[in-house]
Amino acid sequence: MKIVESRSEAYAQVAQWRQTGASVGLVPTMGALHAGHLTLAERSTKECDKSVATIFVNPAQFGPREDFSRYPRTLDDDLQGLRDKQTDLVFIPQPEELYPAGFSTYVEPPSVALPLEGVFRPTHFRGVTTIVLKLFNILPATVAYFGQKDFQQLTVIRHMVDDLNIPIRVEGCQTVREPDGLALSSRNRYLSLEQRQTAQSLSRALTAVAKQVGEGILAVEPLEQSMHHILREAGIERIDYACIVDRTTLESLPQLDRPAVALIAAHVGDTRLIDNVLL
Ligand code: PAF
Repeated sequence: MKIVESRSEAYAQVAQWRQTGASVGLVPTMGALHAGHLTLAERSTKECDKSVATIFVNPAQFGPREDFSRYPRTLDDDLQGLRDKQTDLVFIPQPEELYPAGFSTYVEPPSVALPLEGVFRPTHFRGVTTIVLKLFNILPATVAYFGQKDFQQLTVIRHMVDDLNIPIRVEGCQTVREPDGLALSSRNRYLSLEQRQTAQSLSRALTAVAKQVGEGILAVEPLEQSMHHILREAGIERIDYACIVDRTTLESLPQLDRPAVALIAAHVGDTRLIDNVLL
């Protein structure tokens, strides 16, 4: 597995692979890799001739009061995990490599970035679209893999790729969960044992909603109320949102008469967690 820090080296390697006709899979990450990330890397290795991962904690997608400085950094374990998944190339740039002095161009995210996370983290998706487009340019891959756990991020990236005619295919990969349902997240390691129990209520609320829908409850309001109820009962006081929206436009809807998604963002102690289920 080759590890590079410079844009030019990373570009040269991927461009050379593409010139020989090889397909290249890209797995962008911020490190602190867990089994969810590693399934993306595994899928990339399986489906493509060559596989690239990136590890970069992108300052542009963190708000001023968010966890940028304490975001977990576990480089040695990350590299071992990627090696185990037969990743061919890892790009680990220093911040100056991607944001040199004088950097001032950002990608205006599509309108699907405005609700949900967009309300609570207003500059987040501008940072995500900017870094993802930069990575797509530096590593001109055939296909890029993102987790469905960040459902709105995946939707934002799909829209950006369509709107800006970026020649890369975007693949979403299923959320990986602990046996108790908790969605894997790099931020789970912030949780105490007791908070971890509380955090399970996110997946419990989503599973309950999916069950209710299966039983024929299609009015959105009672379904959303039921999610709030389960979260509050578990002791969660700060719920940013627990709602059901159209799966493509992320607009709210009164009735489940089209593909939808239920999404939750809630705070357990100082840790903000997100999760979702397709309906
Ligand atoms: O999902 C993430 O880890 C990040 O938002 C991404 C896509 C790597 C961009 O920094």
